[in-house]
Amino acid sequence: MIQKSLEQKGFVLWLTGLSGSGKTTIAEIIEGDLRSRSLKVERLDGDTVRQGLTSDLGFSKEDRDKNIERVTFVAKLLSRNGVACICSFISPYQAVRDKVRLETTTFIEVFVDASLEDVIERDVKGLYKKAIAGEIENFTGISDPYESPVDPDIHIKTDHQTPLESANEILEYLEDRSLIPYQNIY
Ligand code: ADX
Repeated sequence: MIQKSLEQKGFVLWLTGLSGSGKTTIAEIIEGDLRSRSLKVERLDGDTVRQGLTSDLGFSKEDRDKNIERVTFVAKLLSRNGVACICSFISPYQAVRDKVRLETTTFIEVFVDASLEDVIERDVKGLYKKAIAGEIENFTGISDPYESPVDPDIHIKTDHQTPLESANEILEYLEDRSLIPYQNIY
């Protein structure tokens, strides 16, 4: 008898939110967890992708759109080949995120919701201080728009939970949708 192997299902876990909202930290925890379950996973992150694949781009609307367009191309290839693709980008425009949904396999929009006051106060990279001082142009939330997701698949409220709790909420969602196997706890 030929046994059909259980194939991993590809998906795109898309984390959107302001700079400093915690997207990368949550994405890293999820990546580690999926690897520990021996799943195929790739992580694409704004800060790192912008050092390579999209290093020629800035932060005008046109350039942000191109940034997400190129990432979408990669996410499309990965997700259709059974890879769990975790993407963390500010991706401030709803229409652009909707386009990613249409072009990729099983797109899950995760709104990493941190208030502007919180991210300014934390200012992990010191960029808000510079943006407020007018030293950085087109800075999301300060001098550039951020369109909050209209109907996200998952809404993470970072003021109510730790990054680990947020990651676990997302992992449970993936399990419930049978996109990843349930973790056996023995
Ligand atoms: S996106 O809008 O095109 O999706 P992306 O997620 O790739 O943005 O990159 C955002 C990161 O670039 C921020 O976390 C921050 O570190 C850095 N950055 C530099 N300049 C800006 C800016 N003007 N607006 C937002 N982020 C910026």
